[in-house]
Amino acid sequence: MSNDFIHRFEPGNRLEAPPLLLLHGTGGDENDLLPLGKTISPGSALLSPRGKVLEHGMPRFFRRLAEGVFDEDDVRRRADELADFVESARARYGIAAPVALGYSNGANIAAAMLLLRSDVLAGAILLRAMVPLSQPPQADLRDKPVLIVSGKLDPIIPATNSAQLAALLTKAGANVQHPVLPTGHQLSQADLTIGQEWIKAVRFLQADKAAAV
Ligand code: MLT
Repeated sequence: MSNDFIHRFEPGNRLEAPPLLLLHGTGGDENDLLPLGKTISPGSALLSPRGKVLEHGMPRFFRRLAEGVFDEDDVRRRADELADFVESARARYGIAAPVALGYSNGANIAAAMLLLRSDVLAGAILLRAMVPLSQPPQADLRDKPVLIVSGKLDPIIPATNSAQLAALLTKAGANVQHPVLPTGHQLSQADLTIGQEWIKAVRFLQADKAAAV
């Protein structure tokens, strides 16, 4: 496969469960979010790449200049590269367009993909995400379901930033839900419950799914 990432793929066993693209946080790898994916959407196919950028040996999905300050050229390039990988992985494994499930740095690259290459994703769950690009392109996210779960006490992501991300995606037409939990940057049980409920309730584009099964 051209443009490959080290990754794990686990086939799904429930046709109505959308495939998930699992995107780990800084210092994570392709194994990290498999249990989270299985909990949030049992029976989904799971595609889980490892970020190619190393920060002091810790894998990430794009370069940053400081905490919360991104190398935006790299964000654009890496989002494109990851979108190409998703496209070739879909053909290789025969899966529909996945719903991204990203945490922290993984949620930020998922947000960048929504803005730059929205066609490769059926929707997204963004856990502790922030605005990835200061001058985002005009994206068409009409009816794309997006769940952003933020922590009110998150020391990395100011509340105004995650609210700005929700507003940006909504303005592009996405169907955004944005619960804010009384927690910090770490995930909590409530993230899992909200993610499970959301994925059960949301309808993803059927045409795409039908084409891939
Ligand atoms: C990022 O760099 O994407 C954010 O600061 C979140 C993180 O990875 O710590």
